[in-house]
Amino acid sequence: MSLFNVYPLNPIAITKALGSRVWDDKGQEYLDMYGGHAVISIGHTNPHWVKRIEDQLHLIAFYSNSVIMPIQEELAKAINDISGKKDFQLFLCNSGAEANENALKLASFHTGRKKIIAFKKSFHGRTSLAVAATDNPSIVAPVNETDNIIFLPLNDIVALEACFATSGKDIAAVIVEGIQGVAGIHEASDAFLQTIRKVCDEFGAVYIADSVQCGYGRSGKFFAHDFAGVNADIYSMAKGMGNGFPIGAILIAPHIQAKFGMLGTTFGGNPLACAAALGVIEVMQKENLIHNAQLQGEYLMNALKAIKGVKVVRGKGLMIGFEMEEGLEDLRKVLLNEFNIFTGEAKPNVIRLLPSLAITKSDIDLFLKGMQDAIAYLQQKNS
Ligand SMILES: Cc1ncc(COP(=O)(O)O)c(C=O)c1O
Repeated sequence: MSLFNVYPLNPIAITKALGSRVWDDKGQEYLDMYGGHAVISIGHTNPHWVKRIEDQLHLIAFYSNSVIMPIQEELAKAINDISGKKDFQLFLCNSGAEANENALKLASFHTGRKKIIAFKKSFHGRTSLAVAATDNPSIVAPVNETDNIIFLPLNDIVALEACFATSGKDIAAVIVEGIQGVAGIHEASDAFLQTIRKVCDEFGAVYIADSVQCGYGRSGKFFAHDFAGVNADIYSMAKGMGNGFPIGAILIAPHIQAKFGMLGTTFGGNPLACAAALGVIEVMQKENLIHNAQLQGEYLMNALKAIKGVKVVRGKGLMIGFEMEEGLEDLRKVLLNEFNIFTGEAKPNVIRLLPSLAITKSDIDLFLKGMQDAIAYLQQKNS
């Protein structure tokens, strides 16, 4: 049987990983500035995280959500502490799309309304409502098309206020990434997020902060939305939450009330996933990784801005995007194929850096050296 061919693959088989390094099946080492697509928060195969999962595996891997699971409560407390969202409630699921799907559904249940405001270039996942709220018609199947989503330009306060002025009573939720990832690292401005808070309060709509990629410390704060100094009503999370163990969740403000049967999942919140997520938080706290993300991110962004050939640098913490000048568009391929460095991309020409939050300055220096060498390689090839 063949694999369903939906991913354009790099012809590299990665079989081993540690910290910010991965190795292929031939033993070749790579520097991972991509973090497996922003998933690796505390570093690959972190020993404390491995032991946390291993220990849990010997106790119990799974039981259904029909019984009390103390480890879920332990995780809720740990997330309350690290996020600072003290009285928020936790619903656990398995992925980012599922987190957003539940967030949107919950907002509709809570308000009794159907309309959702999302933003141009947004990405919220591939399940039915999450993909409908994603601004990419090529991944929306006909059955997922709906008139319930209104797309507005990101950071356009006038358009947002005008939309609420005409349709505010119908709006269930506004869903927004604090920093758009798939779009190529575009930040929502503080003033824009503050306006979302204001209009949601005025019209009784729910502010959903999609923090699947920009959350969990990646931006240098626990949620990138925190820079704006206002709370959302629901935060969706996934990627960095399990450091590669599949887990997602939504944090729900205290005024949104649960009802039996409103949301549910078989695997969400299973003990093994909770153990992985607790392992992540424990390492993040012990190694002060949110601060490290801020520190190393600043260092890396400043260094990138100083490199000749780099056109624009955007982002916060360790969620960084940059574009190259004409003639250097193949840099990402050269970094991987000639200098063994993984980076991410966003079409058409953005290179994305999403490394582990535990990355060291010396690994960043190695990456910067790789950048210089790759640029020189391309210049020589072009001349
Ligand atoms: C902002 C954002 N939301 C949602 C998702 C979907 O997450 P998942 O692939 O875990 O379903 C992603 C994935 O890239 C994302 O970047």
